[in-house]
Amino acid sequence: MRILITNIGELTTNTPADPERVEGADPCGTLHDAAVLIEDDRIAWVGPADDAPDADEVVDAAGRAVIPGFVDSHSHLVFGGDRAAEFEARMQGQKYAAGGIRSTVAATRGASDDELRARLRGFLDEMLAQGTTTVEIKSGYGLDLATEERLVRLAAEVTPEVTFLGAHVVPAEYADRGDEYVDLVTGAMLDACAPHAKWIDVFCETGAFTVPQSRRVLEAGIARGLQPRVHASQLGPGEGVQLAVELGAASIDHGTYLTDADVDALAASDTVLTLLPGVEFSTRQPYPDARRLIDAGVTVAIACDTNPGSSFTSSMPFCIAVAVRDMRMTVAEAIHAATAGGAAALRRTDIGAIAPGMRADVVLLKSTSRVHLAYRPGVPLVDAVWKDGVRAV
Ligand code: NIG
Ligand code: FE
Repeated sequence: MRILITNIGELTTNTPADPERVEGADPCGTLHDAAVLIEDDRIAWVGPADDAPDADEVVDAAGRAVIPGFVDSHSHLVFGGDRAAEFEARMQGQKYAAGGIRSTVAATRGASDDELRARLRGFLDEMLAQGTTTVEIKSGYGLDLATEERLVRLAAEVTPEVTFLGAHVVPAEYADRGDEYVDLVTGAMLDACAPHAKWIDVFCETGAFTVPQSRRVLEAGIARGLQPRVHASQLGPGEGVQLAVELGAASIDHGTYLTDADVDALAASDTVLTLLPGVEFSTRQPYPDARRLIDAGVTVAIACDTNPGSSFTSSMPFCIAVAVRDMRMTVAEAIHAATAGGAAALRRTDIGAIAPGMRADVVLLKSTSRVHLAYRPGVPLVDAVWKDGVRAV
């Protein structure tokens, strides 16, 4: 099956890749008056609309913008209940504390597989409608062997990007026995969860796991064939970024409080810094300065971190708008970070760009420019989505 999308007014290809970050270069590899040929699940051709090849089906973009599907490289989508009351209290002055995670753990343990699955599929539908074609999903609201195994198994039903986050916080039944909980996470729990997962993650933060505990978790996961990624520097500065870089993590996520040494270490590494603008928005924390990171040479991604505590948005366009408004990114940088950046954070070379051979994950916007994604926050601007070459929206 060959589908031609033609009369594209503004095409974001994200190619050629710009590893040297030439100052002033367009990170989006923009083409005008362009066309894209999809053949089965892949992009087969990209070029000027006037030179477009024949196809079985022709879609007229009528001068509007086309972008790669968003790659949302950080989410926690398998959980029970919500924490609306906690959010409401926070907006009235309460401080965000990671301890709220434990209330979601209770609701998650009490939910059936079918309840969790229905919820998960609902989130994926709302994400697809907003242009997200790849989602990474973490466990971390089970915190006992049986529930963590359920969460990674349910996540693996819907995405290959599954992360075992048994080390999210220490559960109440292990209070003051953090090292014993780490024994469980790195032992029997890892044995049960690793077959369903690609990634190992840990929340390396005061109130969650110490640096030595985080190292144990990550090294145990690596020994089981999982690849590391790390939640760090969300609530204050710490050594999680340095640990992530040392262990070759694909990404360190949050980075709300980064030291100059963190920025230097990231810039010299292959570790992506995944910005989560919904978290600072929903917890009233200061926004990290993406301008400082990009100018220093750090590769950045943008993700939603959809979860019931710190960021209950599933909208990549919303996160792009906040990153532009409050983290000092250009619109082009933010859209690149939400597509190619997410792919880099997942170490994927088959998504995040529109070029021959890539997966045909393509979004047609209602607007003639991608700038509208930040310019019209909160407005549904996605007209059509192809996922693996199949029209999904
Ligand atoms: O990524 N930082 C830790 N974990 C989540 C928050 C989870 C929660 O509050 O339920 C995060 O922000
Ligand atoms: Fe998270």
